[in-house]
Amino acid sequence: MKVLAINGSPHEKGCTYEALQIVSNELKTCAIDCDIVHIGTDPIRGCIACMACAKMAPGTQKCAFDDDIVNALIERSRTVDGLILGTPVHFSGIAGSMKCVLDRFFYAGSKDRIGYLPAGAVVSVRRTGGSTTLDQLLHYLTYSNMPIASSRYWTVVHGSAPEDVSKDLEGVQTLRHMAKNLAWLINSLKDYKEYMPEMEPRISTNFIR
Ligand SMILES: Cc1cc2nc3c(=O)[nH]c(=O)nc-3n(C[C@H](O)[C@H](O)[C@H](O)COP(=O)(O)O)c2cc1C
Repeated sequence: MKVLAINGSPHEKGCTYEALQIVSNELKTCAIDCDIVHIGTDPIRGCIACMACAKMAPGTQKCAFDDDIVNALIERSRTVDGLILGTPVHFSGIAGSMKCVLDRFFYAGSKDRIGYLPAGAVVSVRRTGGSTTLDQLLHYLTYSNMPIASSRYWTVVHGSAPEDVSKDLEGVQTLRHMAKNLAWLINSLKDYKEYMPEMEPRISTNFIR
């Protein structure tokens, strides 16, 4: 069993990485591996709403832009059993490059295997904006038919340097608890295909016509 964790921070080994490491370590105690993939610091384009991905057959969908990490993440998501999103808070929201990744990753990929993957989300913040940013991350999961691993508080850890994160004892425990719940979901959904609901053809309205 394997989980893909996306580190959406500009810092490869910063606070968001620390948070994802806590989740990864807990998953390991539940016999689940976790690959933490950093989105890097190269420019990442936002979605240009070209709809090229929507015209591709299920199982082959990818973003029309093939020159950054997004399509590699979509490919990777087809081989894993769970997903975790991690971002630092920038101006009380998702960090910019991560927003670009997520818009394209979920628009191109969520009709495929990303949809239905058990998933969780973590946020790292110095002070304020943690829960609004977590809400933003959860929007991608709730758009995509994903069973979400929650915790007993919101999965936000505090700090501005990596060594701060372990000192946020309640935050760390909240992440461990989320990881346990994610492992529980993944194990409970081993036979997910057997019970997967058949989806109705999409009705798409824009409230005008
Ligand atoms: C551009 C920018 C905007 C930020 N905005 C906020 C903010 O709105 N609220 C906050 O508490 N911290 C803010 N921070 C601090 C980071 O959220 C915090 O240091 C985070 O833990 C860094 O995680 P990282 O080491 O993975 O990058 C901001 C940092 C940057 C670089």
